[in-house]
Amino acid sequence: MYGKEQLGKSFGGLLVSLLVVCPSLIEANPVRVPRHATVVDSLSAAASNYTFVIAGGGIAGLTLADRLTEDPDVSVLVIDAGPLDQGEDGIMVPGSFSPWLYFWPNLFTTNEVGLNNRSVFTPIAQVVGGGSTINAMVFVRGKPDDYNKWGDVGNPGWSWKKLLPFFLKSENFTRPDPSFAKTANISWDDSVRGNGGPVQYTYPNYYYPGSANWWNAAQSAGLPAVKDPNGGDDLGIYWFPHAVDASTRTRSHSRRNHYDRVKDSRPNYHILPSNMVSKVIFRGTTAVGVEYLPTAGGKTSTAYAAKEVILAAGALNSPKILQLSGIGPKNLLQKHMIPIVVDLPGVGANLQDQLTLKVGYTASRNLFPNSGSIANNATYAAEQRALYDSKKEGAYTIVSTLSTNIAMLNLKQTTSSYKQIISKGRAAVAPYSLSSDVDATVLAGYAAQRRLILEQYESGKAGIGSLHWNTADGVTIYLNKPLSRGAVTINSINPLENPLVNYRTVTDPVDVEVLTALFRKNRELMSAPDMASLGVAEAAPFGEQITSDSELASVFREVIDPSNAHQCCTAAMMPRALGGVVSSEQKVYGVKDLRVADISYWPFQVSAAPTATMYASGEQLADAIKKEHKLAEYKRQ
Ligand SMILES: Cc1cc2nc3c(=O)[nH]c(=O)nc-3n(C[C@H](O)[C@H](O)[C@H](O)COP(=O)(O)OP(=O)(O)OC[C@H]3O[C@@H](n4cnc5c(N)ncnc54)[C@H](O)[C@@H]3O)c2cc1C
Ligand SMILES: *[C@@H]1O[C@H](CO)[C@@H](O)[C@H](O)[C@H]1NC(C)=O
Ligand SMILES: *[C@@H]1O[C@H](CO)[C@@H](O)[C@H](O)[C@H]1NC(C)=O
Ligand SMILES: *[C@@H]1O[C@H](CO)[C@@H](O)[C@H](O)[C@H]1NC(C)=O
Ligand SMILES: *[C@@H]1O[C@H](CO)[C@@H](O)[C@H](O)[C@H]1NC(C)=O
Ligand SMILES: *[C@@H]1O[C@H](CO)[C@@H](O)[C@H](O)[C@H]1NC(C)=O
Repeated sequence: MYGKEQLGKSFGGLLVSLLVVCPSLIEANPVRVPRHATVVDSLSAAASNYTFVIAGGGIAGLTLADRLTEDPDVSVLVIDAGPLDQGEDGIMVPGSFSPWLYFWPNLFTTNEVGLNNRSVFTPIAQVVGGGSTINAMVFVRGKPDDYNKWGDVGNPGWSWKKLLPFFLKSENFTRPDPSFAKTANISWDDSVRGNGGPVQYTYPNYYYPGSANWWNAAQSAGLPAVKDPNGGDDLGIYWFPHAVDASTRTRSHSRRNHYDRVKDSRPNYHILPSNMVSKVIFRGTTAVGVEYLPTAGGKTSTAYAAKEVILAAGALNSPKILQLSGIGPKNLLQKHMIPIVVDLPGVGANLQDQLTLKVGYTASRNLFPNSGSIANNATYAAEQRALYDSKKEGAYTIVSTLSTNIAMLNLKQTTSSYKQIISKGRAAVAPYSLSSDVDATVLAGYAAQRRLILEQYESGKAGIGSLHWNTADGVTIYLNKPLSRGAVTINSINPLENPLVNYRTVTDPVDVEVLTALFRKNRELMSAPDMASLGVAEAAPFGEQITSDSELASVFREVIDPSNAHQCCTAAMMPRALGGVVSSEQKVYGVKDLRVADISYWPFQVSAAPTATMYASGEQLADAIKKEHKLAEYKRQ
């Protein structure tokens, strides 16, 4: 979730005001003999040889850097394209959420053919901490079947059971006040919640009264309350936990929980902000280092890694680095006259996101307060801000423009026509979203994924979509397990140029049918008595008069946002014969000492937003790397 409605309103204005407040966005702090985790400058990074160099200091990158530097004999350099945040309210305070300052600049899709050829702004982070610094803090896991199916697509050893200990290790859950939890309908299962890990998470201590109307309407539409969305296969309605430190009621991002938390004791942990890795340097086919340059432009430097180079630049930038380094589809590399290190057709293919469909509502008898009240009632905003500042309570503990509960549905809960949708999906002869000249291995991998995802549609073990009423002006519908596939490709060999991004959203007709089913389910929910009593009515371009599948689909194509900032899967972990880019140990095929740690490695989307999974898989990978190189707790005595 990224609060798109705010983007439109506040981009411009806020950007300017924050820049005025904090003119020094780049912390350059060269220290010759560092005693602490150090922000280094470009020259000192280039003059040292590290054990590991990590490209990208987002969730995966900083989780790895923290865990690997637990071994004092290991040194790690993290290079991130963005600056360090300055602890701005818009980053730290949930109710002030407004992170646009750190959005990657000028990143638009190419024309989306399923969306009337619109070119759409697509949000990713350019800041230390990556998505965890600017995201909406929703902190939820996928369903066990999602991770088990990653195993089934050719990754022995991957499963929910294997990942669960790392979910627990990554996090520290703070329980809500018991009597508040009871009246608010917050429930959880202690046995699947971690304690003692670095990521702080909890629930807001406040809710808008309309949330109860929605909760009760959802139950009358057949959606049950689930005990714990993070623990099992149940689907229905629940409060979503968020990555907020309960003691301060501020964001717990990877910059804080995997860097600030340890920096005083880690002279071996270096960060170089505001620099972009442009390519991996190979000796033969062994990765030995990276080239990088200032994000603002400038001289290229080199940093060396004795053991491994780890890519953690996110789903749109890691494939770009691979392609610039000579690892990618042969035709693309030849077109740009890049010497081929490995012809790997899957690099940049298989792009997926969880599209966002905002359905506006008016509510003639809406309750006060609601998630719009902070923005449109200055008295209320001031009162709530004072409450937050003095007692860490109230509406500012909720992420701005969101409410506190959500529905996650499987296909059977969504529509009685689920069997027809599944048969249609299975009968499809052409892979609608892939081009006719798609590489045979990529096609085979897509077919394998499609079969597994349709199995999930049938078993009901996956959440195919979500519905979120913000209690003010709208419902957001998310499509969690799409069948359409897009791609990321470089447009030139200039490392500072954004790649071409195309999601090919809803080019697979089954995605349109599933979205239509979710839309109709939302209508059923919103017309149940508990919501009808608020006088809710769909706003244009939707409206009760739009009823047929084809009318709905044409409005969808006008308004869908192809991204929910959950981009993934562009360096997929699958066998090479299935168009995979990395092995089940996240090692890039065809070369040595190069891994992909970020969300690019996912084969396909899980039934959730990605953050919790990225922290857990970062922990799992750190453990595997320590084991392989006999570091830290795995050192030979
Ligand atoms: C606005 C927004 C809202 C979101 N809301 C939620 C939410 O509520 N809940 C949820 O679970 N998920 C949410 N997400 C998604 C989630 O944050 C991401 O999926 C997650 O951060 C991915 O982790 P990662 O480690 O793969 O990469 P990232 O965290 O994206 O980190 C990648 C890092 O690499 C850096 N980088 C990029 N290119 C280079 C380069 N060439 N050289 C060096 N560094 C580079 C970037 O600056 C960035 O810091 C949201 C994302 C955004 C952007
Ligand atoms: C770092 O390693 C590279 C490649 O092995 C070598 O050429 C260089 O001299 C080393 N630099 C330092 C400062 O040790
Ligand atoms: C989108 O662009 C394609 C290719 O240019 C074209 O064939 C198609 O008609 C366009 N669709 C719309 C709705 O404009
Ligand atoms: C976990 O959260 C509790 C309650 O907020 C806190 O007291 C404790 O210090 C936290 N533990 C860690 C390791 O952060
Ligand atoms: C909690 O659930 C009960 C029973 O379903 C319902 O009566 C009540 O309105 C709900 N309250 C909220 C805040 O969801
Ligand atoms: C605005 O907020 C104040 C303080 O909570 C409240 O008393 C007032 O009724 C609100 N006004 C409107 C129009 O909702």
